[in-house]
Amino acid sequence: MARKKVTIIGAGATGGAMAQRLIERDICDVVLQDDPQFAGTMHFGKALDESQAAAWIGFSSRISATDGWDETRNSDVVICTAGAPRKPGMSREELLNGNATIVRAKVSEAAKHSPNAVIIIFANPMDAMCHVAQKASGFPRERVIGQGGALDSARYRYFIAAELGVSPMDVHGYVIGGHTDTTMVPVVSQTRIGGVPLTDLLPADKVQALVARAMRGGAEITELLKVGSAYYAPSAGTIAMAEAILLDQKRLIPCSVLHQGEYGITGVYSGTVCQLGEGGIQRTFELPLTAEEKEKVVAAANATKELVKLIQD
Ligand code: 2OP
Repeated sequence: MARKKVTIIGAGATGGAMAQRLIERDICDVVLQDDPQFAGTMHFGKALDESQAAAWIGFSSRISATDGWDETRNSDVVICTAGAPRKPGMSREELLNGNATIVRAKVSEAAKHSPNAVIIIFANPMDAMCHVAQKASGFPRERVIGQGGALDSARYRYFIAAELGVSPMDVHGYVIGGHTDTTMVPVVSQTRIGGVPLTDLLPADKVQALVARAMRGGAEITELLKVGSAYYAPSAGTIAMAEAILLDQKRLIPCSVLHQGEYGITGVYSGTVCQLGEGGIQRTFELPLTAEEKEKVVAAANATKELVKLIQD
């Protein structure tokens, strides 16, 4: 049986971290795609350097780099990281048209060469970029998915875990809605730690502070890094999604998906809990939200709808 193949478009800090996380799982071959005008020969350097880690890390899968598309042919999953990252003080929304041009070009090539792939979109503003990618690929909603909720939920779980002194793995909570500082919706009402509601363990003002920090999670990292945006946690979230698809794990991970009636929302990409496995999104889940949470989720989708209208073709 041929090994599965994943193409990662963009060999910057994020693409490189994703490639490392993925190849070291030894579940697929990885192709790192980039353009000489952006990456020079860096993608070849990263692929070769990581290949040489195999003896000690212990993997047999292959990682290679390319300037073109032939080597990406028939990928099972394509992850698009290409696009500018935000700098300190910038919102993700400010990247809209610059990144739309890049995502459109990259995704149309990728889709031509891998017509059955599941595409995971990473570039920001992520929910809007999913619209660009879906249009450019012509793929169904099951196969064009945005990372965002996976990352935002990881941040939310980490902050709660650190406050309570428990493992982040035992904090169960989801961040849905939009992947922006103002529209993400950490679902406090359904957050459980060892089955206990978060609201029973911490006072309301503490919970609100954790929610606010999670919502600004990406901005906090850009302020600390100064040169770009986060890539360790983002790559962890995206590769968990890719692994779930490649291994048909049927994991429940919040992702950006084209809504078809979830929370009464239709025709717009927004975050919700999705079952990921072979073929991409296999099912979506609606959490039992409070009226206030539901209102925020609808507002998030409306904000993305407005942003999408500003995309120039
Ligand atoms: C973040 O939140 C890159 O959007 C990404 O860090």
